[in-house]
Amino acid sequence: MLTIALSKGKLIESALDLFRRAGYEIAGLSVDSRRLIFVSPENDMTFLIVRSSDVPTYVEYGGADAGIVGKDVLMEQESDVYEPLDLGFGACRISLASLRGEDHNDRLSSKIRIATKYPRISERYFNTRGIPVEIIKLYGSIELAPVVGLADRIVDLVETGSTLKAHDLVELEVIAQSTARFIVNRASLRLKQEPLMELIRKLRAAVRNQRALSGNGRMSAAGTRRKKMVFP
Ligand code: PRP
Repeated sequence: MLTIALSKGKLIESALDLFRRAGYEIAGLSVDSRRLIFVSPENDMTFLIVRSSDVPTYVEYGGADAGIVGKDVLMEQESDVYEPLDLGFGACRISLASLRGEDHNDRLSSKIRIATKYPRISERYFNTRGIPVEIIKLYGSIELAPVVGLADRIVDLVETGSTLKAHDLVELEVIAQSTARFIVNRASLRLKQEPLMELIRKLRAAVRNQRALSGNGRMSAAGTRRKKMVFP
């Protein structure tokens, strides 16, 4: 029996669709249910529904053998998991943004304030550039922070860009691209090698078929052009 951690939210419909296309029909798993665990005897799998930021933790510590999670979460957490598959869906980017018209250095104090739910990614990004920042960790609605003067900039996930636009924010730089990844617990890969390798093979084939259908080799919907960096 394999245990797979999934998260409610943006990725779950595409994740379930991928399993279906790979030949695993998961009867009874409903995104609307309050149930957090679904046993699928016909597939010899158990699905856990956890917070997306907890998926790497469940997988790293063996609460689940495998999971599906965004690369953004993996980059932030630096979990020790095996990452055999880029699933292609859930394409988005982690970007630096500011209020329109406030994207220049001279309007900022020496230490700029960054609101984000990605403190590690932000810290690495600014450290590499030698820019002193104060990082304010938030858990959601990041776009509000510059609007109410809590921060000078934000580092946040951008998918369509509509949340930025709705708050008169402009993207200054794309820090990283993200798509959903299939991750595997390192010990499970040895102990449950056969079913895991079979699952990886089938998922990989389903991803390839989808890419072939979409015609361009990638399912990325995110804009990939790099934005101009406005400050050093
Ligand atoms: C994410 C992200 C942005 C928004 C981006 O938030 O933090 O706020 O989606 O999407 P868009 O570019 O398509 O507008 P989420 O919906 O996960 O909620 P949160 O603010 O509670 O983190």
